[in-house]
Amino acid sequence: MSKKFNFFKEAVKNYKTSGTVVPSSKYLANKMLKDIDFKTANLIIELGPGNGAITHNILKNLSPNTTLVCFEINDAFYKELNKIKHPQLIVLKASAENIKEEIIKLGFNKADCIVSSLPLTIIPKEVTNSILIESYQFLKEKGIFIQYQYNLTYYKKLKEVFGNNISLNFEPFNFPPAFIYKCAKN
Ligand SMILES: C[S@@+](CC[C@H](N)C(=O)[O-])C[C@H]1O[C@@H](n2cnc3c(N)ncnc32)[C@H](O)[C@@H]1O
Repeated sequence: MSKKFNFFKEAVKNYKTSGTVVPSSKYLANKMLKDIDFKTANLIIELGPGNGAITHNILKNLSPNTTLVCFEINDAFYKELNKIKHPQLIVLKASAENIKEEIIKLGFNKADCIVSSLPLTIIPKEVTNSILIESYQFLKEKGIFIQYQYNLTYYKKLKEVFGNNISLNFEPFNFPPAFIYKCAKN
């Protein structure tokens, strides 16, 4: 994986899309993934993988028949992710706004799980809204959308999209400490 310094440089240069200056800790990555049923998942989507802090953990847990598709818009992060050689990983240089279109091109029609590190509060509101709605629509019944944030600003919006099927967790060992939302599709 890239050194933190590279992440820092790239993240600072692109703060408006990265929303942070350090990659997620292993504690946050583990907590984000703890409720995924890796045995039965066919398709997992990751939004905003950066240089792979969470991606590597997903790959470690992946069952042989599961595909992981990552959406990343930043050139440098995209190149970094392409260095990960894993037969079940597909990295797209594409925006999370185009989930449905891109995933259908790959021959899938629903996802079991969407793991998102997108900086929801920094991305324009209309874009965030459409990403959340499209994510909801593209999940299988009982599928889960997992998102971390450094504050609770998007709790209300997530409730509008996912109803009351949201559980909240917290990881103090991350910079900054992060809230984790697990939103289930009913
Ligand atoms: C907070 S960083 C998270 C990086 C990594 N997942 C981690 O947890 O350390 C947010 C990432 O989202 C990416 N991003 C921002 N807007 C995006 C969009 N519309 N589609 C896909 N990726 C996006 C940024 O380039 C950045 O890599």
